[in-house]
Amino acid sequence: MSGILAGKRVLITGVLMESSIAFHTAKLAQEQGAEIILTAFPRPTLTERIAKKLPKPVKVIELDVTNDEHLASLADVVGEELGGLDGVVHSIGFAPQDALGGNFLNTPFESVATAMHVSAYSLKSLTMACLPLMQEGGSVVGLTFDAQFAWPQYDWMGPAKAALEATSRYMARDLGKQNIRCNLISAGPIGSMAAKSIPGFSDLADVWNHRSPLEWNLADPEPAGRGVVALLSDWFPKTTGEIIHVDGGLHAVGA
Ligand SMILES: NC(=O)c1ccc[n+]([C@@H]2O[C@H](COP(=O)([O-])OP(=O)(O)OC[C@H]3O[C@@H](n4cnc5c(N)ncnc54)[C@H](O)[C@@H]3O)[C@@H](O)[C@H]2O)c1
Repeated sequence: MSGILAGKRVLITGVLMESSIAFHTAKLAQEQGAEIILTAFPRPTLTERIAKKLPKPVKVIELDVTNDEHLASLADVVGEELGGLDGVVHSIGFAPQDALGGNFLNTPFESVATAMHVSAYSLKSLTMACLPLMQEGGSVVGLTFDAQFAWPQYDWMGPAKAALEATSRYMARDLGKQNIRCNLISAGPIGSMAAKSIPGFSDLADVWNHRSPLEWNLADPEPAGRGVVALLSDWFPKTTGEIIHVDGGLHAVGA
């Protein structure tokens, strides 16, 4: 098998719909020669249905990233299937409704805590759950939405992404000795389930119609998936703690 991921074994979280960035990552990863395994939340049946649209059959494991039992058994199940791992994709984000859509000043800490647990802390817990399978090093890749700015409607997902970005840097610091890289793709807006759950998401996405240097297509998660696959490959061998923007270049322009 040829391709930039030939011989790589990769665990991919976050495949929910065909609009999921993770679905396109999984498709591209298989096309590029990787052997993959998917994790599913909330129900494996949903992910299994979408996984049928991938080029090759794939095993799906249930994983709620806040569930310690699921995390504790992950390495055994994945190890039996693939023997080890060369890559892990964290494509997970969630905030309760009262943490989104213009309610920033009134959101209770309980909802903020959930957003942080699922969207940021989980990068660490998922990676540690997979660590026994990455004895020869590997690449961990997550997805962020540029946390340098306060965006319309994004509310507590903003601080959660800021925490994710910082977590990725600390993981890069602590896992470098084991030759494990940890990087993020900072994607522009995509009309996935996660995005649709943000009230007023179209106001946020509209910014790209006016300011993005490159034309941006809200309905196309593939460019973000390509970025993830590139970071999983051997073509970024000395890059870690990095955030690569796949956002049409919007981060680079002021107005
Ligand atoms: N859509 C966008 O505009 C956009 C932009 C930049 C970054 N991102 C990020 O990309 C990633 C993937 O999102 P997407 O846009 O593909 O949407 P999506 O809705 O397809 O994916 C989000 C995933 O998070 C998973 N998830 C939620 N709670 C979980 C839990 N407790 N345990 C395990 N998994 C859980 C869901 O099952 C789902 O698969 C997220 O981190 C998101 O914040 C999205």
